Amino acid sequence: MKVETAGRDALLHLSAGGVSIVVDVRGGGLPRIVHWGADLGALTAGELGELATASLPPLVSSVPDGVVALGLLPEHSRGWPGTPGLSGHRGGRAWSPLFTVTDVRLDSAELGGHRLSVRGLDAAAALGITLEVELTAEGVVRLRGTVRNDGDQPFVVDQLALGLPVPSEATELLDLTGRHLRERQPQRQHFHVGTRLREGRRGRTGLDASLVMVAGAAGFGFRAGEVWGMHVAWSGNHRLYAERMPSDQRLLAGGELLLPGEVILGPGQTYAAPWLYASYGVGLDEMSARLHRMLRARPNHPRTPRPVILNTWEAVYFDHDLGKLTALADAAAEVGVERFVLDDGWFRHRRDDTAGLGDWYVDESVWPDGLHDLVGLVRARGMQFGLWVEPEMVNPRSDLARAHPEWIMAGGDRLPPPWRSQQVLDLTHPGAFDYLLGRLDALVTEYAIDYLKWDHNRDLIDGGHQPGGEPVVHAHTLAVYRLIDELRARHPGLEIESCSSGGGRVDLGILERTDRVWGSDCNDALERQSINRWTQLLLPPELLGSHVGPAHSHTTGRRHELDFRAGTALFGHFGLELDLTGLSVADRSRLAEWVALHKRLRALLHSGTVVRAEHPDPALLIHGVVALDRTEAVFALVAMGTGVTAPPGRIRLPGLDPVRRYRVRPLPPGDVQRGINHEPAPWLRDGEVTLTGAALATVGVQAPDLYPENLFLLHVAERPGEAG
Ligand code: DGJ
Repeated sequence: MKVETAGRDALLHLSAGGVSIVVDVRGGGLPRIVHWGADLGALTAGELGELATASLPPLVSSVPDGVVALGLLPEHSRGWPGTPGLSGHRGGRAWSPLFTVTDVRLDSAELGGHRLSVRGLDAAAALGITLEVELTAEGVVRLRGTVRNDGDQPFVVDQLALGLPVPSEATELLDLTGRHLRERQPQRQHFHVGTRLREGRRGRTGLDASLVMVAGAAGFGFRAGEVWGMHVAWSGNHRLYAERMPSDQRLLAGGELLLPGEVILGPGQTYAAPWLYASYGVGLDEMSARLHRMLRARPNHPRTPRPVILNTWEAVYFDHDLGKLTALADAAAEVGVERFVLDDGWFRHRRDDTAGLGDWYVDESVWPDGLHDLVGLVRARGMQFGLWVEPEMVNPRSDLARAHPEWIMAGGDRLPPPWRSQQVLDLTHPGAFDYLLGRLDALVTEYAIDYLKWDHNRDLIDGGHQPGGEPVVHAHTLAVYRLIDELRARHPGLEIESCSSGGGRVDLGILERTDRVWGSDCNDALERQSINRWTQLLLPPELLGSHVGPAHSHTTGRRHELDFRAGTALFGHFGLELDLTGLSVADRSRLAEWVALHKRLRALLHSGTVVRAEHPDPALLIHGVVALDRTEAVFALVAMGTGVTAPPGRIRLPGLDPVRRYRVRPLPPGDVQRGINHEPAPWLRDGEVTLTGAALATVGVQAPDLYPENLFLLHVAERPGEAG
């Protein structure tokens, strides 16, 4: 990085990865974002000035006498009538700060990407502020605010949120909600005047968390319409909101949700809000692609091929038996599994889900010789070994809870309502932190564990610190981060999965220190099609665990063909979660074919661009991954239900190079046209077709007629030397 500009009167145009932001730091106040969106191309200083002037609103009746520009940190003191960026007080004073810029610093990297840091001061309120704005080489904006108490009395921080403006063309909002077994469901609405606020008060990211809040042009979809999205990279309480004023100023904003009195800054102390990530695109696919590329460029992004997993949960649940697990490991190795993960049930007193959490010692009554026999045979079959843990939780029926009841989170002289018979261990107690670090370290060391499935199965309710009951969610979240960081520092090769009743802790804060998330406890492929599709709004496929479950799904009661289950899991970090020992020989060998296909394709699936085509019939989903060099792609056509028409019409395959010619073929074993299928489409009878990328994106190919809850895969490969 080199320092390009330092000056308090800057008007800056930063561009990278097809995105521009224009930041106005003139006039002494905190920065105003003039533009965030499509790249504006080269602009002279004069043109930049004209752009900034042209964007200012006129005065209308019954408003403050000067223009109220919307800042990165919206300030009530400047007349911003919406949610102030910083709220807090010092004994009832200093509650409406007015910051003046003291320092502006811009660092720009040779390979694109910029880092702007602006410092401000309100001497009367005795507060300092630092705003950091990064534009990554991929075009993603990262934002963070830090407030400092310069006074000699404590300052209570209630909220610190930063915002980015979106234009009047952004007339619709999209956010996600969910619940256990059905995470990441989209909800859309008009961008009305007022505040659309999504709060997370669960002490974890939440099964219902909106990974991203999106504002977009009317009718935007995956492939079309400008969109602007924001994410809060934090695993505790948070806020994400879209706000529109009667002046038609609109913004997306976010930050941590602080509980009363949770952050009280002593003299000289600072509070740093979580990072916000903001991504622009024409269509949701482009917005996601920028996020995916940015995540893939991180130094800590998993770089090795994602090992195919066998997770024991839906195979044996709590029924741990070495004989059975040996047979499972044999079958797993036979079908090509590379990582064997022993799920819940291995530690002291854990015969069901009512006891044992906290007692992180191998249960001698079930495993008299420890886990060594199992680990040894797993390794002998060429697989890595993974283990399930739920470190932040404790069952009252455990040795740990009996020894240290004071480590349990509680808001007063009562315990929070139980949830799956468990309570939360408050990691801000040094003893609790040290105990967990010690036990995890010992287990990872003793068994040379490759992978931890790190679970978290309840909300934090009444998240207080004993004995006084002060709210502790903020500090506990930081302590969890510290615990994982310390464990990873001691075991650099260790991989960790973030699981929380399925997808309850999916955010870029936890993903700074973990290697994948568990998308959902629902392995029903029909539900997973939708859960995975929307989780990938933020995450690239390799970070999203997706498993082939049993034919009969215990979470929905549905039954699905093996091909549908496997073809669904194929596009994520692939795994198996069923009793392989009970499969027929034919099913086992079919599963081995799917494992082999995933291994063949994973380099493409885990590096390419995710595309989600729109089809007018909601019963049909089309998604795929296109190689970065656009030489190859894989698409899935998914019949989510019965279509309105038969046959379903043509499907478009977007994202390829318009001028190159591609051969399109059904991809075995996902090539079974399970349907009434009187007559396959003529091109399918011929087995393949060759078309240009433009023809595939605009005309497409006729889809086969499929039974509902079935899928069909297509492989697309460039025909070398055959540009159209
Ligand atoms: C919830 C997880 O999401 C499941 O996959 C499984 O690990 C159970 N917990 C075990 O208790």
